[in-house]
Order: sequence, then C-alpha cells, then structure tokens
Amino acid sequence: MKICGVILAAGLGKRMNSSQPKVLHRILGKPMISYSMDCLSETSNVEKTVVVISHHTEGIKDIAKDGSVEFVYQKEPLGTADALKAAVNSINDSYDLIVVVTGDTPLIKSKTLENVIKFHVNKGNDLTVVTFDASVPAAYGRIVRSMVDNEISRIVEHNDASEEVKSITEVNSGFYVISSAVMPLLEKIGKNEKNGEYYLTDIVELSIKEKLKTAAFKADNEKEFLGINSRQELLTAQRVMQRDIAELWMGNGVTLMDIDSVFISPGVTIGKDTVVYPNVVIEGDTHIGSNCTIYPNVRLLDTVLEDGVVIKDSTVVEKSKILTDSAIGPFAHIRPGSVIGPKGKIGNFVEIKNSQIGYNSKASHLTYIGDSELGTDINIGAGTITCNYDGKNKHKTVIKDGVFIGSGTQLVAPVTINKNATVGAGSTITKDVPEDTLAVARSKQQHIAGWTLKKRPAKGE
Ligand code: UD1
Ligand code: CA
Repeated sequence: MKICGVILAAGLGKRMNSSQPKVLHRILGKPMISYSMDCLSETSNVEKTVVVISHHTEGIKDIAKDGSVEFVYQKEPLGTADALKAAVNSINDSYDLIVVVTGDTPLIKSKTLENVIKFHVNKGNDLTVVTFDASVPAAYGRIVRSMVDNEISRIVEHNDASEEVKSITEVNSGFYVISSAVMPLLEKIGKNEKNGEYYLTDIVELSIKEKLKTAAFKADNEKEFLGINSRQELLTAQRVMQRDIAELWMGNGVTLMDIDSVFISPGVTIGKDTVVYPNVVIEGDTHIGSNCTIYPNVRLLDTVLEDGVVIKDSTVVEKSKILTDSAIGPFAHIRPGSVIGPKGKIGNFVEIKNSQIGYNSKASHLTYIGDSELGTDINIGAGTITCNYDGKNKHKTVIKDGVFIGSGTQLVAPVTINKNATVGAGSTITKDVPEDTLAVARSKQQHIAGWTLKKRPAKGE
C-alpha cells in the first residue's frame, strides 16, 4: 500500500493578523508546520509528504531545505479543495491513499494517523473524515449525520450553518484519508457562493453520491485536533504541548519547580535528577545531563550541558557546550561556539564568545573572552577583556595552562600567554608572554609629596 501525505499550508491565515505566514509561527521554538511534517514522517507507511504552499507562504521552504518534503504551489489560496487539487496534480507516482492534514494542527500524533489509516483500510473505505466532539465547535465545520444509518452525510462550515446545525458538537478535524477512486471528484467541487472558495469538505457529499464508501473516524482525543487560527489558539496549543512535555520529563525523573513557567522544546532531552527552577526556556537542540541545576530566568538554546552542571540565575547559553561539573552565572552570557569545563567557572557579568575554556579554569567576574583558547587551571581576574576585534578582523587569544591574569587586564589579540605566566593587574598586553614569566604593562605609579596641601585650601579659610 503506497501512501502519500499532503499538508495544506497555502492559506493566508488572516485571523492571526500577522505579516508572517500562520504556519511559521513558533510553538516552543519550533514552527507550527514542522510538527505536521514530523508527524507525517513518523507515520508508518507514509512514503512521502507534499506540502502545498502559495507565494504568500513561500517562507515555509526555508525550514525544510533537507529535501525531506516536496513543495507544490497553489497559485492563489482559493480554498482547501483547490489546495489539494494542486497537490494531486503534481504527484507523479501513483499512490493508493492520500492522507490530508492541515498545516495549522500541530498537536496531532502519528499514532493517531496510523489508527485512522488502519480504520480506512480495514473498513474498505474510499473516504475517511476524522471528526471529534469539540468543546468549542464554533471555528470548525460541523458533521451532519444521516437519519438513516447515522453515517456522515455532509460537512457544513460554521458560516454556512443553520442554528440547528450550529448546535452539533461533532466537527471536522481537517484530516482525511482519501483513496485514489475519490481523487477525480476534486474537479467537481464548486465554488462556495459566499466567499468564492472551493471547500474540500464538499467532497463528502460528492463521494456519497458516487456510492463510494464514505465514513467518519470519530476520535476521542480532542486536544490533538486543535486547529490554530488565532493568537489565542496558538497560546492554547502551546499550553497543551508545554504541559505534555513537562509531564514527560517529570516522569523521567526531572524536577520542575513550576510547570507553568518552564518551556521545554520538543527536541530537548534532560537527564535524571536535574532540577529546573521557574522561568526557564530550554530551546532547540539542547541536551541536558543528569544532576544539573538550572536556576531562574535562564535560556538555553542548542546547547549541551553535561552531568552536574549548574546554570545560575539570569544566564543565557547559546549553541555551546558546558562540560561536567561546571558552573555558569549568575548574569552570564555564553555565546555560540563556546566549550567550557569540565569544572569550569564562569561568574557574574561574564560574556564568552566562540572560545574554549579548559578544565578547572575560571573567569568569575566582569569579563569578556572572545575567539580565545584557554587551557586548564587558569584564573582570569575581574574585568579582563580579550580585545579580539581591530575594527576589521577578529583575532585569537591563546592562554596556556596554569596562567594567572590579574584584574583589569586587556589582552590585545593576536596574543599568546604561555604556561604558568602571570599578568599583573591593569596591564595592556600586546606581546606574547613567555612561560613562567610575570608580565606587567602599565605606567609606573608616581608619588608627589604634599600635592594635596598645595592644591586644596586649608580648612576654615
Ligand atoms: C477547515 C475546514 C473545517 C475544519 C477545519 C479544521 C474547509 C472548508 N474547512 O476550516 O471544516 O473544521 O479546517 O481545522 O476545509 N489552505 C490552503 N489553501 C487555501 C485555503 C487553506 O492551503 O486556499 C490551508 C491553510 O493554510 C490551512 C488549512 O488549509 O493550513 C486549513 O485552512 P483554514 O482556512 O484554517 O480552514 P478552517 O477555516 O480552519
Ligand atoms: Ca484552521
């Protein structure tokens, strides 16, 4: 059985009131449509996925550059039937089944799609519509069932519904499984008179008329089918997802101090006995080891924390690796390309960019380290700055094992401080410092005796 997935994502998403395509709005750091793409790719027997876009939603192409999905264009968003037609016309291979999903229903799980496909095949259906009982049905098409056999007979959009139909709570999820026999009927769908769109929902009546086996798969997991049309629904979906992910990690042995203010992206992993305080955002491809502590107001993006790492309050770590038993923060910024530890210590108001900082090395206060390579057992004094930028190019600072940099030092790159050297506080270092050497580069202190007495009028005058 050959199955093709189709994601409809050419619509304008007007109700979002956004200049960005609706399906690119992010939920826990991941674009809405990526959830549908991932779901289809995880659904067994779905061989390929076609995403229908329009010139309004071309930006979608940027998030799936790896060729895992195919894109087809709907010239203008003239409705869901027109969108599916664009997909069907572009699919060269022949497929037995098409699974249609909308790009604005990110909570769907592949297990559910697999059950729908099974139902479709086992019942010998030609068209299966996935329905559910909605607690707030207003945004959805209503499922009208036949008085004779209680099977689905048509779908009526909210705006076209009578009061009686509006009182129906069973709604269309926007998910369908369609056999090849039904495809030609897409050509027969007419324009909706009210708004000039071609509604895919009309295929139900046409299919029944052609005596094709048409049935509803009524799902009981409403939250998987939440369609996102507005910012309010975006928030609702995010809350559902956030809670599910939080529950998952708590089940795996992670302590979350506040389930409502910890935001963990779907791709993240967290080890046992890690503790996460409130107001923490863990995004992207982030992997956290066990026995870590993440204090409040922290954001981690595409970052690896090995076991036993402590991230103190109000710290940002982006695209970096923090090795075992290191401590970062409070108020630190670790920028992309940094590797710190094991047992590293980065303290208050320290910024690290694209630098390697080795075992047991420390920069505890008010420091900038950029484009640098630091060995082991190094102490960087308060207020040290690597001057890595000459206005045109970036240069490298190398600090070898056992070096001590005194406070208030500037290291003007390119420069190397060799093993066990010491740099005196307040130095501006422009030349390489040899091993085991003290370098001091500051103007000598002078004393002018009695100066104050001469300058300052004596008291009482
Ligand atoms: C649609 C269904 C409704 C169902 C609901 C479920 C129709 C007419 N209505 O309504 O019965 O209850 O989904 O969430 O099908 N799209 C295109 N091209 C277009 C128009 C839309 O690709 O010309 C895409 C959109 O990008 C979106 C999806 O189709 O991802 C659904 O469109 P939307 O406008 O959100 O439909 P609803 O009004 O929610
Ligand atoms: Ca929708």
